[in-house]
Amino acid sequence: MTVCEYRAGLEGIPATQSSISYVDGQRGILEYRGIPIEKLAEQSNFLETAYLLIWGELPTQEELKLFEHEITHHRRLKYRIRDMMKCFPESGHPMDALQACAAALGLFYSKRALDDPAYIRAAVIRLLAKIPTMVAAFQLMRKGNDPVQPRDDLGYAANFLYMLNEQEPDPLPAKIFEVSLILHAEHTINASTFSAMVTASTLTDPYAVVASAVGTLAGPLHGGASEEVIFMLEEIGSVENVRPWLEEQLAHKSKIMGFGHRVYKVKDPRATILQQLAEKLFEKYGRDKYYDVAVELEQAVAEKLGHKGIYPNVDFYSGLVYRKLGIPTDLFTPVFAISRTAGWLAHWKEQLNENRIFRPTQIYTGLHDEPYVPISER
Ligand code: ACO
Repeated sequence: MTVCEYRAGLEGIPATQSSISYVDGQRGILEYRGIPIEKLAEQSNFLETAYLLIWGELPTQEELKLFEHEITHHRRLKYRIRDMMKCFPESGHPMDALQACAAALGLFYSKRALDDPAYIRAAVIRLLAKIPTMVAAFQLMRKGNDPVQPRDDLGYAANFLYMLNEQEPDPLPAKIFEVSLILHAEHTINASTFSAMVTASTLTDPYAVVASAVGTLAGPLHGGASEEVIFMLEEIGSVENVRPWLEEQLAHKSKIMGFGHRVYKVKDPRATILQQLAEKLFEKYGRDKYYDVAVELEQAVAEKLGHKGIYPNVDFYSGLVYRKLGIPTDLFTPVFAISRTAGWLAHWKEQLNENRIFRPTQIYTGLHDEPYVPISER
């Protein structure tokens, strides 16, 4: 066995073999099952992409129809889950609500049969179907309203926006949200996916796998960054203030939210597509006042930090798109989770195919054979 040197954050250390997605961080390439993200964003829809990720190939017309039909008919939540959500504090973060709800599914669907393809399929359908309903239901409940029931005649993306905003979206916002779901669906072994894989490797149930990944996605260094980007743009306030603000942040060695990536050393291809989507939305529904601040910041950061490979990541423009779609700032990360559930489930399934429990080693830096000092002497 080769013993590797210790690398903080496991940087550059392979943790698995996977055929789900591929990133070339130098050339700005992202592929799902070999298909470039740009092609999927232009031609696919979220459920087809989820199917591709989870089952490894594009579905036939019949397979996709059946998959969409099953998802549509599993969108509703059990009334006991809704009752549980009513007890959540309205000031709580929606990611915490989502994590609790995802874990609670394990209580209702407790039979575990990880070697049964029918069980795997049912769990995939249930999670993809119900997570958007949970996110929208929490949003309405914390405002004191009853959740809106899903509508079977609406597609996956349009139905979520309908449940959230209580009105059917126009085709353009629905299409743009669909593309955004595709872009966020999978991204190799990032922190939340790794968390999902570690949990999966213990052979626990898929609801625990997704709940653990949701908890990991919540942090500001991962999915939580899109929320932080909006706070940052609001703090900067104007195009004129971009450069003085940036100078001050860099002087304090603060990280600029929505920039930098462990793998990409060029602009994240998803950020490029999201920026195009933002512009399409602004053309039809009016420009977000912080868009110009964002563009100026991208330019200023490239000048100052481009030599370190620090460019916009997926979170930089996603918040501006979400905001125009009527999604509140603290729902940005739950919306990311709706989409990333596809990737987590793909890795869960791949992990089960060739499972070995994760149990890395450590380099011990503590003491040995220390005396025990009785409490009366401390
Ligand atoms: N702003 C300023 N400097 C940065 C940034 C940033 N956003 N990101 C990295 N750097 C600098 C570091 O200061 C460091 O400089 P140094 O070598 O001179 O000390 C160098 O680039 C390497 O940075 P690390 O933090 O070591 O990079 P790491 O790969 O560990 O971190 C991360 C990647 C967490 C994404 C980091 O870039 C960051 O914190 N970005 C801001 C938060 C963010 O946008 N997260 C979303 C990531 S995408 C996603 O999860 C979906």
